[in-house]
Amino acid sequence: MILAAIPIALILFVIVFHILTYFHRRKYSHIPSIPIPASPKWIIGHGPFIVQKAKLLGFDLTAIVESFRADLSADTIVIFSPGIKSPMIYSVREPFYSKILSDHKTFLKPPPALDYVNGVRILGPKGILLEKGSEVWYHKRRTMDPAFHKKFLRILMDKMNEKASKVSNYLDSLPDKKNIDILPILERTALEVIWSCGFNETDDIITTEDSPINQAVADIFRVGAMKIFNFTFWIPGTFKAEKKLLFEKAEYLRGLMTERLQDRFDSITAGTDTTNDILSYIIRANQFSDKLTIQDVVDDFFVFLIAGMETTAITMSTLLWYMLKDKEMARRLVDEVNVAFGDKEELEFDDLNDLVYLEQCIKEVLRLHAPSRISFRISPDKPVTVDEIVLPPQSRILVSIEAIHHTESIWPEADKFDPSRFDPGKDIRPFTYMPFNAGPRVCIGKHFAMMEAKIVLARLLRDLTLFDPYPEEKKLEIHTLLLARPKKGVFVGIVE
Ligand code: HEM
Repeated sequence: MILAAIPIALILFVIVFHILTYFHRRKYSHIPSIPIPASPKWIIGHGPFIVQKAKLLGFDLTAIVESFRADLSADTIVIFSPGIKSPMIYSVREPFYSKILSDHKTFLKPPPALDYVNGVRILGPKGILLEKGSEVWYHKRRTMDPAFHKKFLRILMDKMNEKASKVSNYLDSLPDKKNIDILPILERTALEVIWSCGFNETDDIITTEDSPINQAVADIFRVGAMKIFNFTFWIPGTFKAEKKLLFEKAEYLRGLMTERLQDRFDSITAGTDTTNDILSYIIRANQFSDKLTIQDVVDDFFVFLIAGMETTAITMSTLLWYMLKDKEMARRLVDEVNVAFGDKEELEFDDLNDLVYLEQCIKEVLRLHAPSRISFRISPDKPVTVDEIVLPPQSRILVSIEAIHHTESIWPEADKFDPSRFDPGKDIRPFTYMPFNAGPRVCIGKHFAMMEAKIVLARLLRDLTLFDPYPEEKKLEIHTLLLARPKKGVFVGIVE
C-alpha cells in the first residue's frame, strides 16, 4: 500500500512543481530569459544549457552569462533557477543597474553566504560588508566613514611607509631573487597593513611565511569558496576535512580578535580610550544598541580583514605583471617615483598626488581585472519598476562589474591594458567604472586601498630593480573564485 503510494506522490509532486514553476516564470515573461518561459525543461531549468556553455567558456561566470545575453541580443535578461527559486536579473543597461545600486533602502544585499556554516559562526551576520542595507547598515556606515577620510588617512602615512619599507627589505633579503612569487608576499603585506593601521596590532606577518593569521585568512577564503560553489556543502556530514579546517581557523581568528578587542571595548565603554584607529570606529559604530555582543563587533573586525587584504594585494601584483611586460611603462613609473621621493627616505602624504601615472596604472588594472567582479541585490516584497522594467517581488539582481568594464561602447579595445584611459582631465561617466562598486555601498576602504597600493609600489620601484623571469608569458591568466586573481601567482626577479 505504502509502496504504491510513493510513485503517486512523486507524480503529484512533479505536477505541482511544474504548475508552480510555470506561474512563477510567467511573472518574468516580459523580459528575455534563459530558458524561455515555455521551455519544457522547467524542473532542470537552464542546467544543461549552462553546463554546455560553461565547458566551452572555461567556467567563467561572466563570460557564460554574457554569451547568453549576446544570443538573446538583450541588455537585460532573466536567468531562471530550477523551480520557484528566485531567478537572477542580469543587466548591463546603465540606467537600470545604476538605479538599483543607488537605492540602498529599496534594493538590499542578499543574505550573506559565509556568516555561519552548519551553525558555526564564521564571518558572522553583523559585519558592515554583509549587512543587508537596513538602518543598521546606514548607522554603521555613517559612524565608520570618518575613519577613511583624508584627515584620518594622513595619520596612517607613517605606518604605511614602515610596512612598505619592511616588505622592500624582506624581498631584498631573500636568498634566491631570480623567481619570486610576489602575490603571497603582498597578501601578507596587505594583511599586516590592515592589522596594524586598522587595529593597532604589532604581529609580524610580512616576514613570517607561515604566519598563523595569514594562514587562517587564506584557508577561510579557500574553503569559503567551496561553500559558495558546491550545492552540497551545507549538508552536515559533507566536506568533513574542509569544514574541520574552516571551523578551526574561524575559531582561532575569532578567539584572537575577541581577546584583542576585550580591553579596547572596556576602555571605550568607560570613555577612557584614547586610541584612534579603524577599530575604535568599528566599536563606536556598534554601540548604538546594548543588545549587541562582543561577537557582533568581531564580525566587523573580521570583515575588514577579509575585505582589505586580498583585493589590494591582487591589484598591486597584477600591476607589477603588466609593468614587467612593458619597458616604457616601467621606465615612466620608475622615473615618476624617483622624482616623488627626491632625496627623501619616505614619501609624505602630499607626494602621493604627484604619482599621477602610477595612479592611472592602478586604475587601469582595476578596470581590466576588477578583483571583485559581481554584486547582488534583492528587490522588495512588492513589484517595482526600474527604468521601465517591472521587477516581480524578491527578484535577485546580478550586476557584473566585469561585464561593464569590458563593454566596448564604454571602453574601446576593452581587453587592452591602456592607462591613458585615465589621463588627467578625462571624464569617466559615473557607473561605468566600478572596481569599488558604486552608490552608497561603494567600498569604504577605496582611498585607503589606493593609498596603500601607491606607497608600497612606489617603495618597491624606488628600492629594487625588477625583471621579468617569464618574458615568453604574454597573457595573465585569471582564476575567479570569491575574487578574480592571477591563476599561477605573479613572478618577479630582482637584480642583485
Ligand atoms: C583594491 C582594493 C579593493 C577593492 C577592489 C575593493 C572592492 C570592494 C567592492 C567591489 C565592494 C562592494 C562589495 C559588494 O557590493 O558586495 C567593497 C566593499 C567594502 N570594502 Fe572594499 N575593496 C578594496 C579594498 C578595501 C580595503 C583596503 C578595505 C578596508 C580597509 C575595504 C573594506 C570594504 C568594506 C568594509 C566594504 C563594505 C562597505 C559597505 O557595504 O558599506 N575594501 N569593496
